[in-house]
Amino acid sequence: MIFKEELNKKADVINLELKRHIRSEECPERILNSSVEYSLLAGGKRIRPILIMSSYELFKNDVEKTYTFAVAMEMIHTFSLIHDDLPAIDNDDYRRGNLTNHKKFNEATAILAGDSLLNNAYNLVINDIINSDKDREQKILALRELSSGVDRMIAGEYVDTEFEGKEISNEYLEYMHENKTGALIKACVRIGAILAGADSSAIEKLTIYAEKIGLAFQIKDDILSEIGDSKELGKPVGNDRERGKCTYTTKYGLEKAKQMLNDITSEAIDAISLFDNSEFLKDLALYIAYRNK
Ligand code: IPE
Ligand code: IPE
Ligand code: MG
Ligand code: MG
Repeated sequence: MIFKEELNKKADVINLELKRHIRSEECPERILNSSVEYSLLAGGKRIRPILIMSSYELFKNDVEKTYTFAVAMEMIHTFSLIHDDLPAIDNDDYRRGNLTNHKKFNEATAILAGDSLLNNAYNLVINDIINSDKDREQKILALRELSSGVDRMIAGEYVDTEFEGKEISNEYLEYMHENKTGALIKACVRIGAILAGADSSAIEKLTIYAEKIGLAFQIKDDILSEIGDSKELGKPVGNDRERGKCTYTTKYGLEKAKQMLNDITSEAIDAISLFDNSEFLKDLALYIAYRNK
């Protein structure tokens, strides 16, 4: 199957799974649940769940075993986006081609929609662990990856806000990107491998790939914030510079940032080439680096 077809097929699977977790019953918090649905089903690329699935598939075929973690991770990512867009953080009006959650609903609803997504992600995983027997140990280890990924994402988001409008060192900029975006991406790759029962040496090698694509993902996001097409992206362009955000393009300039992205992507591909069946993950590294949205 060609890469794009497989990517779309995996995203379709995730979209179906996400729909199964929407709360649509009448209840006093009906609007809160609608706001969760609004952001979750708005149509992101679903890269994080796809990473969990494809890392698992390096080792095993029964990929449906990853769905709970895949859904939980997309919920957590969506929470991070809703909060990232809030006036107190990036103050953005568009996301995934629609008004941001706080613009469509209101700030209180958007804060609570994020909280609800984060908590529901843990609920799903905990119930999955309770209902499993033989692979319980692996799921607990995967839960640890998920929760430490969230912890690092929050740390990175904090550094991003602290350095807005200030000079940042190369070292802190890399730290910020590795955490705010890299941490969840790294967790996804590791979770897939852990759920598949991969040994620690395979997980270590995969972690190198994961760290590279995680950093590459945010460098590309920085580049798209300068030269992307806001229609295609579904979110604003030029907003990082406007707000005095520290990014790879504001720090190094566009050409150097692109060069760094190319280098890191080649290193990611070298790291994943050690595995058989790694074609999809190689293509995914290229997709992350050269996407337009
Ligand atoms: C955007 O993530 C925020 C970052 C962490 C860079 P994505 O580019 O994966 O956004 P969606 O999920 O496709 O909307
Ligand atoms: C997003 O960082 C990181 C998280 C949401 C954790 P950005 O603020 O750079 O991402 P976009 O450009 O708004 O998607
Ligand atoms: Mg931000
Ligand atoms: Mg933002």
